[in-house]
Amino acid sequence: MSPNCPCFGWRKKKTKPKINEDKDSPGPSRIDTVERQETPARRNTLDDTLSAHENKNKENTFTYRQLVAATDNFKDTNFLGQGGFGAVYKGKLAETGQVVAVKQLDDTGFQGEKEFLVEVLMLSLMRHPNLVHLIGYCAEGTQRLLVYEYMPLGSLEDHLLGLTPEMKPLDWNTRMKIAAGAARGLEYLHNKADPPVIYRDLKAGNILLGKGFHPKLSDFGLAKFGPTGDKSHVSTRVMGTHGYCAPEYATTGKLTAKSDIFSFGVVLLELITGRPAMDDSQGHERMLVDWVRPRIKDRKNIPQFADPLLNGQFPESMFRRALNVSCMCVQENPSVRPSISDVVLALEYLVAHPYDPNEVHKVHKKRTEGRSSPNEKLRILDKAVDRERAVAEAKMWGETLRDQRMQSEQKNNDKQKTDNDEQKTLE
Ligand SMILES: Nc1ncnc2c1ncn2[C@@H]1O[C@H](COP(=O)(O)OP(=O)(O)O)[C@@H](O)[C@H]1O
Ligand SMILES: [Mg+2]
Repeated sequence: MSPNCPCFGWRKKKTKPKINEDKDSPGPSRIDTVERQETPARRNTLDDTLSAHENKNKENTFTYRQLVAATDNFKDTNFLGQGGFGAVYKGKLAETGQVVAVKQLDDTGFQGEKEFLVEVLMLSLMRHPNLVHLIGYCAEGTQRLLVYEYMPLGSLEDHLLGLTPEMKPLDWNTRMKIAAGAARGLEYLHNKADPPVIYRDLKAGNILLGKGFHPKLSDFGLAKFGPTGDKSHVSTRVMGTHGYCAPEYATTGKLTAKSDIFSFGVVLLELITGRPAMDDSQGHERMLVDWVRPRIKDRKNIPQFADPLLNGQFPESMFRRALNVSCMCVQENPSVRPSISDVVLALEYLVAHPYDPNEVHKVHKKRTEGRSSPNEKLRILDKAVDRERAVAEAKMWGETLRDQRMQSEQKNNDKQKTDNDEQKTLE
C-alpha cells in the first residue's frame, strides 16, 4: 500500500471465511472521520422514519431462522463471496419465493441497535433502477444480516478481471451502458436522495449486474455500519478501497461528493483499459491513475489505453471522449472534477453513439483506400480533443442534452395539462 493512502479494501474474493480465526484482529473497519452530518433536522427525519417503521412495517424485517432457511443454513454451495463486511450467500425466501443475496455482517461490534435499524430503513427507502434494492434485514442478538435483491451476473469486477473461459469479454457498447447506469445510480444518491448519500466505496466490485448487464450500485451507505469496537480508530481511519480513493479523502479524511466522482473516474478507466484500479502483480502496488496520467499527455499514446479484449471494436471518437471524461473525474483538485449530473449527460451521449461494426468497416475502408500518407494515424490523433476542449465539449453535450430533456419534460407537462383539461371538460 502506498504510504500516502491509508485506504484499505478487503479484497478476499470468493473464499469462504474461516470461522473463529484471528479473533483479536480489529476486523474490517470501514468507519471514516466524516460521518453523515447529524443535524437536528436529520435526527428528526431518522426518528420519524424509525417510528414510522417500527410498529407498522414488519415486512422488511426477517428472523434469523427465516434467513437460515432461505440460504439452506448458509450452505457452501450458496456462498457467493466474501466482502469487507462479511460473507454473502444466495437464498430463496420461503414466503415469496424471491431469490435474494444475504449478507451476514461480521460480528465485530456494531453501532447502537437504533442507529443500525434507522440506517437500514433509510437505505431500504432509497429506490432507483440503478441501485441494488435492500429488501430487508435481520438484527437478532449480535446477528446483523442484510437481504438484497439477487444480481445474477455478478459484479463488474468479475467481468473485467475475473473472466473465466466460458465468459465473453464485455463489448464497448455494454461497457458504456454499465458506466452510464452506474453514473445514474450515483446521481440519485448525490442529488435526489433525501438526505443525500456519499457512496464512499464506489468500485467495480460494487457495481452488480442484472439481466442484460443492467448495472446497479450495491453497498451504498453500508460504511455506516462498520465496527466501532475500537473507538480510537474511528477518528483516524479512512474508509475506501485502495486504488479508487480520492487523494484528498485519503490524506485529510474530508469527504465530499467529489471523492465519489474520483472513484467513478477510476471505474471508467477500468472499463476503458481493462486494467485493475490497483495492480500489485509486479510485486509493488501501482495505481491505475498513476499509470494513465503521464501517458495521457502524449496523444500518440491514446490507442494504448484500449483494453486489448475490446479487439479494436469501438468508435475512436467516443473512446477518446470516454477517456477524457474519466480524466476529468480523476483530477487531483476536487473542485474541477465534474458533477455527477455532467458525467451522466456525457455518458448518455456516448451510449447514444454506439459502436456499429458496419459503420466502422466503411470508415476503415475509406481510410485504407485513401491511405497514401504514413502519417494518417497521426493526422487522426491530431484531431483528438485536448483536455480543455474536452471539458468544453462535455459542457456542450451537457447543455444540449439538458435542453433536450427540458424540452421533452415541457412537452410532457403541456400534454399532461391538455389531458387534464380535456378530462375536466368531459367531467
Ligand atoms: N446482491 C447481490 N447479488 C449477487 N451477488 C452479490 C450481491 N451482493 C454481493 N454479491 C457478491 O458477493 C461477493 C461479496 O460482495 P460484497 O460483500 O459486497 O463485497 P465487497 O465488500 O468487496 O463490496 C461479491 O463477489 C459479489 O459479487
Ligand atoms: Mg460490495
